[in-house]
Parts: sequence; C-alpha cells; structure tokens
Amino acid sequence: MLFDPRPKENRKEIFDRDKEIEAILEGMREYPLTLLIGIRRIGKSSILRVALNEFEGIGVYVDVRKLYSSGGSVSQTVLVNELRNIIVGRGKMGFLRGFSLESVNIGGIRIKPRESNFTEVLESLNLLGDRFNRRIVIAFDEAQYLRFYGSKGGRELLAAIAYAYDSLSNLSFVFTGSEVGLLHDFLGMDDYSSPLYGRIYEEVEIKPFSKKLSTEFLQAGFKEVSLTPKKEEIERAVSELDGIPGWLVEFGFHYWKKRNFDDALKLTMRKAHSMIQEELSELEKRSPRYALILHAIAMGLRKWSAIREYLEAKSGPVTNARLSTLLKNLEKMGWIKKEDRSYAIVDPVVEKVIGGK
Ligand SMILES: Nc1ncnc2c1ncn2[C@@H]1O[C@H](COP(=O)(O)OP(=O)(O)O)[C@@H](O)[C@H]1O
Ligand SMILES: [Mg+2]
Repeated sequence: MLFDPRPKENRKEIFDRDKEIEAILEGMREYPLTLLIGIRRIGKSSILRVALNEFEGIGVYVDVRKLYSSGGSVSQTVLVNELRNIIVGRGKMGFLRGFSLESVNIGGIRIKPRESNFTEVLESLNLLGDRFNRRIVIAFDEAQYLRFYGSKGGRELLAAIAYAYDSLSNLSFVFTGSEVGLLHDFLGMDDYSSPLYGRIYEEVEIKPFSKKLSTEFLQAGFKEVSLTPKKEEIERAVSELDGIPGWLVEFGFHYWKKRNFDDALKLTMRKAHSMIQEELSELEKRSPRYALILHAIAMGLRKWSAIREYLEAKSGPVTNARLSTLLKNLEKMGWIKKEDRSYAIVDPVVEKVIGGK
C-alpha cells in the first residue's frame, strides 16, 4: 500500500522510481561499489530494500544508524555480530537459516563460529559466493555513520572494503546516505590519502517528485483506499509538502484515517515537528550554532552577513572561517543549499517547522 508509513519492501508498494531501482540493480551487478544518495525521507531505504529483494544474488542489509545508536560508536564486534545474525540468523531469520552457529559448513566452507574480524567475514562471504555461484551485496544504510567505526574515523573499515574491492570478486557494496557530503568525505574516493582513493563507483541520486508526480502519487494512493479528495485539497497538500514522499505518505495516511483535510495536514505537520526536533537536537550535540543558523535561514535571513549578525546576537562573536565551516557542514549534511550567494533550507517542510510558520 502506497500510504503505508513504513519503508517499503516490494516494487508494487513504491510509486514511480523504476529507473532508480534498475540503476541500483545494475550497480549491484556491474560495480563493486554503488552510492545511493538523497535527502531524508526521499525513499532511499525503501528503494534499497526493493532492489535487494529483487537482486538475483544474495543481499545483506545493514542499518548503520542502528549499530551507531547502540553506543555512539560502531565497533568491529558489533558490526560482525550484526552480519553474523543476518547471515546465519537468530532463530529463523537469516539467509542461511537452519545452520547452527557452531557448524556453519556449506559445501566444505566453514564460517568460523567465533569469527570476529570484518575482513575474515568478507572472505567467507566471497567463498560462499563462489560456492553458490552468486554475487553477494552488502548494503550499508546511512553509511556516513561508519565514520564512527573503530578509532580512526572508519579507516580500518575502508581498508577492508578497498581490499574486497580489489580482491574479492563476488562481493559488491552499496552505501546510502542522507548526509551526502559527509558520505563522500568519509569514502574519500577523491582523497589521495583514503584507502578507496580513485576507485570507480556508480552513484544513484534520488530526487524529490515534481509537482505533477506528487499529485499523481497522492491520487494513486487515495485510489487504493477508495477515497477521492477534492482537487483543491490535493493541490494544497502538494504545495505545502512539496515532493518529498515521506511527508506525502504521512499526509495520505492521516487523510485516509481521519477523512478530513485540515486534520490530516495538522497531524502531518505535528509529526514533522517531532521528527525534526529530534534531528535538531542530534545536530545541536555537534554544535549549538547549527540550530541557530538554521533558524536564521528559515526566518528568511539568507545572506552571509545577515546570518552572521543573527548568530553573533544569539551566541557571541564568530569568525568568518568558523561560519564558513558551519555553513559548509550544514550543506554536507543535506540541511541547506547555496544558490547565488544566498542560502536556503532544502526541505520546505523543515523550513516551515524551524521557521515556526
Ligand atoms: N516512491 C515511494 N512510493 C511510496 N512510498 C514511498 C516512496 N518513497 C518513500 N516512500 C515512503 O516514504 C517514507 C520515507 O521513506 P524511506 O525509504 O524511509 O526514506 P529515506 O531512507 O530516504 O529516509 C516511508 O514511509 C516510505 O514508505
Ligand atoms: Mg532511510
């Protein structure tokens, strides 16, 4: 169902996006490494899961945020445990279910029960791929959090992936990221000192729906639940929520349940408010100035000098260099964009919520 608010798993629950799904599948088949990028709530996890389900090889989905939130860092043990759970399973989960942890021995290949080294897990998976003559994709969702892996900004993990890239031909990797600039920085394909420097990769960007597609998406969703809202209601929802599927789904879901336009929009904005507040408080842990800058921009202070004045009034002097870094980071994290020397919030719903409109 299109208005189901959870990430989707099957292509029929996904509106449009056939091109993107095909591009990811092509990436999985043809490239050792694929990036799937786009802002929050645009549909990355859904598109990734659909592609993994359709992939003819074996797909392993790792939610890096989940690993990170269990302790503020990602240790090798936590990652390897998660992989082992996905592969040999807890109970009936896992794609090699039925094999006990002590005796995973498939066609003579033994996955060591206490294997605790990420590189060794990759080697075992590569052997499994050989044995079954299938490609194995390991997908890291919200992979920019892998910079918290180990103690060297994730370098050990990148080195293992670079090794797999060069030597383990049955494996390929997908990295998704909402914080696109941070993900690029972390992977460092253009950074001479990065283990992955210079490697070729496929990149698929998920963009917001156009106004026309957003309208068609709402119409298709309402048709599924046998509702026909007024044309003006759909138009207003699209103009308020723009083309971000996550917000459109939220609205459609509430309209379906409440059968009332104003209630549905109010509930959508309330939900947006709580989600964005949570994200802002995460951001404030990195620097309290980020939230102040976002407030300034959301209130319409779009130029450098106006942002600086606001920031200084609220939190004291700030150097040009510091402000420049803060703004660049907000851009890398996908909150703002810069157009003609003027800054704007990327997601209009975020702009409304932060600007108190
Ligand atoms: N093309 C789409 N069709 C239907 N629902 C979608 C689509 N894209 C995203 N969604 C919905 O939007 C919400 C956010 O999607 P998600 O995949 O979690 O985004 P992301 O991982 O980019 O943050 C989910 O409720 C999902 O079901
Ligand atoms: Mg996601």
